[in-house]
Amino acid sequence: MGFADVSEAAKAIKDGYLVAFPTETVYGLGADAINALAVDRIFEVKGRPRNHPLIVHITSAESLDDWAKNIPDYAYKLAKDFWPGPMTLVLERSELVKDFITGSQNTVGLRVPRHPVARDLLLKFAELGGRGIAAPSANLFGKVSPTVAADVQAELAGRLIPGDLILDGGSSEVGVESTIIDCTKSAPAILRPGAITASMVQESTGLTLLERDETIRVSGSLKSHYAPKAKVLIDQDPISGDGLIALASYETPTGVIRLASPKDNYEYAQQLYAALREADRLGLMRVVAVLPEGDDIAVAVRDRLRRSESA
Ligand code: TXA
Ligand code: MG
Repeated sequence: MGFADVSEAAKAIKDGYLVAFPTETVYGLGADAINALAVDRIFEVKGRPRNHPLIVHITSAESLDDWAKNIPDYAYKLAKDFWPGPMTLVLERSELVKDFITGSQNTVGLRVPRHPVARDLLLKFAELGGRGIAAPSANLFGKVSPTVAADVQAELAGRLIPGDLILDGGSSEVGVESTIIDCTKSAPAILRPGAITASMVQESTGLTLLERDETIRVSGSLKSHYAPKAKVLIDQDPISGDGLIALASYETPTGVIRLASPKDNYEYAQQLYAALREADRLGLMRVVAVLPEGDDIAVAVRDRLRRSESA
């Protein structure tokens, strides 16, 4: 399957097909968010349980009120400060949002992505009368999210049907999934860390963040969710034949296969998933990851690495 152009892709989604598309975080597998049959195929193709809610991608904060209600002021503030961008807001759903999107929960996750191809796709879809595009990360359930189109193709092409398409928009700039923020309480709570950090949320809203509510289902918060085939070991000494992911300042011991040497935490996030996928391509048994420090995007990197860690 070759890669498609954006107009063709917008039409495919409107016609009920699936389109994998780039975002600044990771690639998504998109369907028309109000088309039950199309959305059902997302779960089918990914092998994802149907009670795991999907994020709806929209063109701008102006359509927030179509999709959500009882939106707190601080959510509008977050939308104004960080959209388009790597942030998902969880809000009380409107009547437009059906159970097949939310896994029957009363809330919906909404995001305005900033990748130019994703924006263009949403705009062209809107010109055709489309409302929003439901999209999880474009990987099989439990696997590492793809950050390049070739990885989507390798993983999903065998499960797509004629009419489905893949858009190529290069390497995702952020590299880890969006920050998910619960906006259904008196103050925001971070459900999944990402490029928009706790201190950015705090500064934007002027509110002290709440602890995350453990009863909310976030599939990405399952232990062992972002796992490659290789065994992932954290902060251990690599031995000959191991793969290694660490900041460039960490030297590669003899016989160890360097999978990534990012110069800072942002590059670490950008390169993380491609490095884990590379480990599987090389057939490595073990990957040692040295956790980055800090309270910036390093929080998200540590979160994903701990979830990919082998028991
Ligand atoms: O960066 C991203 O967020 C990417 C790109 C494609 O936008 N999408 C993504 O989707 O990571 P997915 O489905 O792989 O992960 C979305 C997470 C899931 O863990 C899901 O449970 C959670 O968002 N989620 C969606 N709606 C929710 C809701 N109403 N309440 C709580 N969590 C929700
Ligand atoms: Mg995912």
